[in-house]
Amino acid sequence: MIAPAAKPQTVYVADDSTAIAAGANRVAAELSRLPNVRVVRTSSRGAFFLEPMVEVDTPQGRAAYLNVQPREVPGLFRKKPVPLARIPFLAKQTRYTFARFGENEPLDLAGYGFRAWQKAREMSPQQILAEIKRANLRGRGGAAFPAGIKWQTTADTPTEPKYIVANADEGDPGTYADRMILEGEPYRLLEGMMIAARAVGARQGYIYIRSEYPAAIQKMRAAIAQAREFGVLSESQFDVDVVVGAGAYICGEETALLESIEGKRGMVRYKPPFPAVEGLWGKPTVINNVITLATVPDIILRGADWHLSLGTETSKGTMPLQLAGQIRQPGLVEVPFGLTLEEVIYDFGGGLPRGCRFKAVQVGGPLGALFPARLLNTRICFDALAKAGGILGHGGIVVYDDQTDMVQLAHHFMEFTANESCGKCTPCRIGSTRASELLQAVLDGDAVPEDIALLRELGDTMKNGSLCGLGAMAPAPVLTALEYFPNDFGRRL
Ligand SMILES: Cc1cc2nc3c(=O)[nH]c(=O)nc-3n(C[C@H](O)[C@H](O)[C@H](O)COP(=O)(O)O)c2cc1C
Ligand code: SF4
Repeated sequence: MIAPAAKPQTVYVADDSTAIAAGANRVAAELSRLPNVRVVRTSSRGAFFLEPMVEVDTPQGRAAYLNVQPREVPGLFRKKPVPLARIPFLAKQTRYTFARFGENEPLDLAGYGFRAWQKAREMSPQQILAEIKRANLRGRGGAAFPAGIKWQTTADTPTEPKYIVANADEGDPGTYADRMILEGEPYRLLEGMMIAARAVGARQGYIYIRSEYPAAIQKMRAAIAQAREFGVLSESQFDVDVVVGAGAYICGEETALLESIEGKRGMVRYKPPFPAVEGLWGKPTVINNVITLATVPDIILRGADWHLSLGTETSKGTMPLQLAGQIRQPGLVEVPFGLTLEEVIYDFGGGLPRGCRFKAVQVGGPLGALFPARLLNTRICFDALAKAGGILGHGGIVVYDDQTDMVQLAHHFMEFTANESCGKCTPCRIGSTRASELLQAVLDGDAVPEDIALLRELGDTMKNGSLCGLGAMAPAPVLTALEYFPNDFGRRL
């Protein structure tokens, strides 16, 4: 008699760009060579310091082998995996938008279910708008503008057709939350867009993805193709296309992005008119960040009160924070607004690597303020950070150690602005170049104290006179470096 074949053991390995960069594909290939092992590729939990992770099912839930090397694979199952509930980085998070990460197969359409859409299609457009407004959903792309007001404006504008645009340009160095959604949970973004389209009466949407995200582009296109094939999009009377950017930071700014979709050079438009009234091809357009749109399904499913129950007075819900730089545990942390920078950097990020001492943290990308240790008690919420002279931006948190030279860093970011400026307005086009030259003079030891005064004055002009956020926010790293780390400048004058 032939003995029945043993049930294959299922193991889960992330199919995410960062996990792959850490070696996940090589580990998956070794695993698939083992007899009786079935490898399922999932999204990543975002605990990148532990990738490649190999997860297995246990009666108590998932457990994982951590930082697996291909050569360890043949003997892997002789070891004991770590229950995920015992990994504080994961266990302490409050995950909603990223709840299925690490478990779902990104392109499994039936497994996703589109439950929020099923609820939304029974609601009137005005009921959806009312729920999003009541939830006080603020944009997660940088400007923190209430999504409901934007949507209502587009809905109320009589011009046709209307468009939904997802901003997946994600230009801030050290940020990757959008990429994780595009690669790991693409149907969630589609569902958010479908709900927005029903609310405002749009029939066409675009997802603008940076060209540096080839895997995200491919996954998103595959997800759209499946949603078309299985009638999900046609049922919602809405269709979506992917547009690929060409590598300009300014194309993340909403009006430059619209120009880029229209096939023009990415130049910022004057506002008003705002895109909600005159956007893509002059038509009313809702443009939202990927995370904003990916938060919508939970608001519809769980209700506005759920969203209002999380966060601070003015920043409601959760925020995916992305830890990078000199930190022990880089990765994505979804938590309610309101934790302090210190809690996130030390409790989740594990602090700095051994031998490194904290010097500064930059929140909100290359245009964000540089905070010293004494401001680590600042709460992560749009308004608390603004009050402290910074921004939350897209939730990037980059930690610098005491080997970092703040003049070099400030020069680096100002040069970035000079390179990325679209050139439309003088304070940014000329100001960023002159500021970068002044900082270079400081670095070369050629500056005098009056140059610092000039740098501050230039910063003020850029802040108050620039047409868009790039020029207006670019002085923040320089001005905060001057304020909090004056010695780095002083010793060179
Ligand atoms: C220079 C610059 C770059 C920006 N880059 C991005 C980006 O990469 N992704 C994004 O969602 N928003 C970016 N924004 C913000 C957008 O202009 C806009 O506020 C956002 O897409 C609106 O969506 P939200 O309300 O959902 O955040 C950028 C803004 C500026 C000034
Ligand atoms: S601030 Fe800079 S990027 Fe923005 S419009 Fe002016 S020149 Fe262009």
